[in-house]
Parts: sequence; structure tokens; C-alpha cells
Amino acid sequence: MSEKLPSLRIGNLESDNPIVLGGMSSGLTKSELAAEIANNGGYGTIGGVGLGMSLDIRNRDDYFQANESVLKYEIQSALEASNNGNIGVNLMVAATDYENSVRVAVENGAKFIVSGAGLPLSLPDYVEKYRVSGIPLPELIPIVSSVRAAEIIIKKWGKRPNPILPAAFVIETPNAAGGHLGVTNIDDIGKDEFSLESVIPKLVETLENSGYDIPVIAAGGIWDRGDVEKMLKIGAKGVQMATRFLTTNECGASQAFKDRHLHNTDPIVIIKSPVGMPGRAIENDFVRRTNLGERFNLGPCVGCLRGCGYRENKLAGYCIIRALDNVHRGDVENGILFTGSNSNRLKEDEAAGIASAGQIMRELTGAKL
Ligand SMILES: Cc1cc2nc3c(=O)[nH]c(=O)nc-3n(C[C@H](O)[C@H](O)[C@H](O)COP(=O)(O)O)c2cc1C
Repeated sequence: MSEKLPSLRIGNLESDNPIVLGGMSSGLTKSELAAEIANNGGYGTIGGVGLGMSLDIRNRDDYFQANESVLKYEIQSALEASNNGNIGVNLMVAATDYENSVRVAVENGAKFIVSGAGLPLSLPDYVEKYRVSGIPLPELIPIVSSVRAAEIIIKKWGKRPNPILPAAFVIETPNAAGGHLGVTNIDDIGKDEFSLESVIPKLVETLENSGYDIPVIAAGGIWDRGDVEKMLKIGAKGVQMATRFLTTNECGASQAFKDRHLHNTDPIVIIKSPVGMPGRAIENDFVRRTNLGERFNLGPCVGCLRGCGYRENKLAGYCIIRALDNVHRGDVENGILFTGSNSNRLKEDEAAGIASAGQIMRELTGAKL
């Protein structure tokens, strides 16, 4: 194994290596996985959306209360399990309880907030509003897919009476990442202009020319040490990885969900999500049936999104939060199995006897297995 990977500075935070866990919501990246990544020298991100689905949700009030209490519990547990390590949360702008989740993150000492699925233009306002004396404010990390989106954020955040800069940008490519993808036009997926190789050098140059010292973190399709080194070479200071950790022991999903990925023979496809963005997922029975126009009533609406393409009777014929929760619990043909373009490589780790996130981190960093 070659030399040691560099550390990654994000605002006032410093890690041993440049690996950031990609937040995966509705209970996939919870405290156990986040702490394992932080304990192995990276940044451990809790997927902060829809966490309450792990409890029994009957209505909207239940959902929001459960989200709040589980998010608080997961942040506190991860900080404890990592000895106050680099633990943060991933929050989706499009979630109805976005502002409240930011409050919970700030009040419970999350070290950073990664935020996408929409431009997080109000994030600094929320964070300052909920400042708690004695607790440092979390570092703010927007997720974008283009230089233009990064510029809009810098401009808006810089116009505040108390200007604030992003502590880092995650550049996520719709060409390879899992989950919701940051393009409105499905036809843009796969275009070279959205590749990491195209966007990262341009963003790094733009930031440098404007005098901003903001690290760029590459996300989408990063699997092994060679991929990490490639991203560092083109100007990224860190990498955000998610799919590689989906079937680890520490991932919060059921074994049936993990087995579905490990034994998958279906194609990885682009779906239209009710969020209003495309997503990358396994083409299971559910996807095939929704593609044919079938509508599914998966349970009462909890109002999880600000604008929902299912409730408004367009975009998709199912409730996204219940479709994700179903598969995470193990009902794998009755919901959406988000995954990245490298999903079919998960079986390589199984064959190699790699079962824990710590093993993957040690393989990536060259630390002893
Ligand atoms: C199952 C799954 C769920 C995801 N959920 C979220 C999420 O809730 N919020 C988010 O910003 N990104 C989400 N992502 C994107 C990841 O955080 C990450 O940026 C991306 O998948 C990186 O590409 P990779 O999976 O090829 O490593 C999700 C990805 C997957 C595979």
C-alpha cells in the first residue's frame, strides 16, 4: 500500500484521513456506522431525514416527534461512541422538518451539517438562530452538482449581515451517486459536464480565483483506494462514500435489505422520485410496476416533504418515505432500493470477507486490516 492519505480540514475540524461517510437517510447511516467511520479517522455522517420511521408511526405528529427524538439520540450516541469525534448530520432541504432538524443538530453538538436535495440557502440563518452558548456552531457543507450552484450559495451566504462561507462543498455527480440526484432533467444524467472529472477542477479553480479556501469533497462512484487517489489528484481534498458501506454490519438496514443488494441481478436504473428529483435504485418489482403507471398506497401520509409529487398526483405513484422504510425493514420488493452505480460490486466485499465499515476504512487508508 502506498503512502498515507492526507487529512481533511473542514472549517475548525480536522480528520486523520479524507473519507466522509455519505449520509443515507431513513435509518441506514445511524450512530453505529457514523461512529465506526469517525473511529477510523474519517467523518461520520448520520442520515438525519426520516429517522423516526424506525418507530411505529401512525400520523404526522408521531412522525415529526419521532424524527426529533431519534435524531437527538443518534447524534448523542455517535458522539459518545466516537469519544466526541467528527460526527455530523445530513439533512435534506426538501424535508418539511428541515429547520427543526437543524435545531436538533445544533443543540446536540453535531460537528457538521451536510445539506442537499435543494440549495441550502437558509442554512446559516437557522444555525445561528439556534446557537447554544458553549457549543461551537457546526461546520456547514452544501451538496451541489455544478459550479453554478456553488456560486449561488456563496453569494447568498455572503450577503448576510454576518457573512458565512461554506466550510466545504460536496460535489456529487448524478452519473454515479445513489439516492436522489441533483439534476432536474433526467437526460442530464450521464453527461460528461456533470462528471467529477469535469466539475471538480472547474470548481477548485473558481474558488481559488475568488480567494476562497474551501475544500471540495468528491461524491459518486468512489469505491477503492485508486478512486480516492484519482479524486485527490484532480483537486478534491476529500471523498464522500456511501454505497460501499450499504451492506456492512454497521449499516442500519435489515439483513434482507443487505442480502437483496448482495445477490442482486436486476439493473441499476434511474427512477422519478416524488421529491421532484431523479434517483438511482435497483430495478425491483416495485420500480417495474410504478414504471407501468401503477399507484401504491403504502400507508397514511406523514407530510415528510414540502412539495410531494405523490400527494399532488404527479411525478410518482407512491409515498417515498414509506417506500424507503419498507425496504430498509426487509420488504425488499415493496419499495425503493436506492443504491449507487457501484452497487453490484458489494458482492466483492462479501467474497473477500469484508463485513465491517472499519475493515473498509482500513483497506482504503492502508491501515492494518
Ligand atoms: C441508499 C442511499 C441513500 C442515500 N440517502 C441520501 C440522503 O438521505 N441524503 C443525501 O444527501 N444523500 C444521500 N445519498 C447519497 C450519498 O450520501 C452519497 O453522496 C452518494 O451515494 C455517493 O456515491 P456512492 O454511493 O457511489 O459512494 C444516498 C445514497 C444511497 C446509496
